[in-house]
Amino acid sequence: MKKQVGIEALAIAVPRRYVDIEDLARARGVEPAKYTAGLGAKEMAVADPGEDSVALAASAASRLIQRNGVDPSRVGMLVVGTETGVDHSKAVASHVQGLLKLPRTMRTFDTQHACYGGTAGLMAATEWIASGAAAGRSAIVVCSDIARYGLNTAGEPTQGGGAVALLVSEQPDLLALDIGLNGVCSMDVYDFWRPVGRREAVVDGHYSISCYLDALSGAYRGWRERALAHEVVRWSDSLPGEQLARILYHVPFCKMARKAHTQLRLCDLEDGPGSRDSTPAAREEAAKSQASYDAQVASSLGLNARIGNVYTASLYLALAGLLQGEGAALAGKRIGLLSYGSGCVAEFYSGVVGEGAAKRMAQADVEAVLAKRERVSVEEYERIMRLPSDAPEALTPAPGEFRLAEIREHRRLYTAG
Ligand code: CAA
Repeated sequence: MKKQVGIEALAIAVPRRYVDIEDLARARGVEPAKYTAGLGAKEMAVADPGEDSVALAASAASRLIQRNGVDPSRVGMLVVGTETGVDHSKAVASHVQGLLKLPRTMRTFDTQHACYGGTAGLMAATEWIASGAAAGRSAIVVCSDIARYGLNTAGEPTQGGGAVALLVSEQPDLLALDIGLNGVCSMDVYDFWRPVGRREAVVDGHYSISCYLDALSGAYRGWRERALAHEVVRWSDSLPGEQLARILYHVPFCKMARKAHTQLRLCDLEDGPGSRDSTPAAREEAAKSQASYDAQVASSLGLNARIGNVYTASLYLALAGLLQGEGAALAGKRIGLLSYGSGCVAEFYSGVVGEGAAKRMAQADVEAVLAKRERVSVEEYERIMRLPSDAPEALTPAPGEFRLAEIREHRRLYTAG
């Protein structure tokens, strides 16, 4: 039997505070419906300087290990995907290894390509295991980021922060990946970037949406070509994309998943054997199908709407959101996943939900993690945003979590709860 490789378990970590998105809209003199209906947001995570990408990654990885009884001596690779790392040289993965007292025998490194970094790490880990080089060992891939555009910017309601840790192994209880089907599209564009030394991203917002959709089309068509060749999907009464039980997208804001799904359907409607029988206007209308969006996408967005953008982790928050609600119902079914990183690269891949998904999601207990958060006012959010990044407040982390305590002689020192 072909070796199965994929995601065995996951865990999340989020900042301790959040702001209600309608409060933010009112404070900015914006009609709240623009942020709720127009962008699809409900709440936005607010990370303080103590909750940097290292602290969030370590908290998520620690929870993953504890909740799933992972034997660290069986983990041969620790990868952190992030675009908001804390040092030009020292890897976030090294910090996580030290904070969790993980063995010295594992390969540790970070992966960076905007929001795609986590998927780059997941594919490196999956292919390492599938190749046999792992010799039976597992990998931990952590996606950790703080999305920050700044006060009073167009991107402000699409900020957020957090981490998702993934255990990757030959026992894919959550998702067995379809190795060899992935489709990729990459281009050199300036849609979203963060020059060295800046805390806030620079973004050409509307252009970034069109780059995302363009790259999605290329990546999806690449996956579809291989999936058709392997008879994973076919041209039939239903479109190839409709033959996936669910499709998860990179979610910089929830409404983007709707735009992405429309674009993916348009690829099928334009390329299929029946395309000559319809007009471009009819295809555009069919691509917008509310029923298709409701059936294939909507149920994955609950966590994204409550946390906001988490760059590398956004796609994996959608995976967590989907499987915490539908893990049992989707067991044995194939889903599609679209990762996007500005700059840019997109990768479309698929996998089959495992029989153990519901049990693993119960162990992740994502709702309990979110329930501990505190809602803060817009004034408090603004105060936190203005704090210098190198002077974290002296707060005690919750049990099992980590915080940046201070920076001494350019060394970052963390405290454990
Ligand atoms: N009621 C309901 N809807 C309303 C409304 C109201 N009163 N007022 C406006 N809207 C709708 C608009 O019609 C629009 O919807 P559509 O896109 O469906 O037309 C939506 O609300 C947003 O309105 P605008 O486009 O006018 O909003 P904006 O220009 O102020 O900013 C944004 C939107 C460009 C996404 C901005 O938030 C931004 O720059 N965000 C950061 C960049 C980003 O997330 N890019 C995504 C692709 S890049 C990527 O994915 C990588 C990554 O993680 C960053």
